[in-house]
Amino acid sequence: MSIRRATEDDAVLLAKLHGTVFPDGPWDEAFWRGAIASSHDLILVLEDRAFIALRLIGPEAEILTVGTTLPGKGDGMALVEEAKLRALAAGAQRLFLEVSIANKAALGLYGKAGFARVGNRPNYYSDGSDAAIMRFDLAQGDE
Ligand SMILES: CC(C)(COP(=O)(O)OP(=O)(O)OC[C@H]1O[C@@H](n2cnc3c(N)ncnc32)[C@H](O)[C@@H]1OP(=O)(O)O)[C@@H](O)C(=O)NCCC(=O)NCCS
Repeated sequence: MSIRRATEDDAVLLAKLHGTVFPDGPWDEAFWRGAIASSHDLILVLEDRAFIALRLIGPEAEILTVGTTLPGKGDGMALVEEAKLRALAAGAQRLFLEVSIANKAALGLYGKAGFARVGNRPNYYSDGSDAAIMRFDLAQGDE
C-alpha cells in the first residue's frame, strides 16, 4: 500500500474522497487546499482512495479525520500507523482524536491501534451522540 503526502494537486481528489466517505459533512476543495498549504497540517493519501488529516502543533498532535472509500481492507489501520510515525518524527509525544461513540468501525480501528479513551463530550455530534476523546502515547509505542 502506498501512502504519500498530499500536494496541492490533491485538493480535488481529497474533496471527492471526503464527500464520498462523509456525505453529510463534506469538506470542500478550498478547505483541503488550505490544509495542504498549512505548515501545521499533514495530509496523507493512500492509493487515491483513502486519506488522513493530522494537525501537528508541538507535543500534541491530532487526527482531524480519516476515511477510506474501500472499508475493511486495512486502509484505516495503515493510515493511522503512518500518522503515528509521522507525528513522532515531527516531535509530537501524544496523538489525540475525537470520535462518535456511535461509530463502531472507527472505535474498533482506534482501539486496535492502541488508543485509550480519556474523555467524553456529551451530545457532541448533531445526531446527539457523545464524542469519545482518545489518546495514544507516541513515545511509549504500542506495547
Ligand atoms: C473507520 C474507517 C476509517 C476504518 O478503516 P478501514 O480501512 O475500514 O479499517 P481497517 O480495515 O484498517 O480495519 C482495522 C481494524 O478496525 C476495526 N474495524 C474496522 N471496521 C470495523 C467495523 N465495521 N466494525 C468494528 N470494527 C471495525 C477492526 O478492529 C479492524 O481490524 P480487523 O480487520 O483485524 O478486525 C472506515 O470504516 C471509514 O472510512 N469509515 C467512515 C469514515 C469514518 O467514520 N472515519 C472515522 C471518523 S473520524
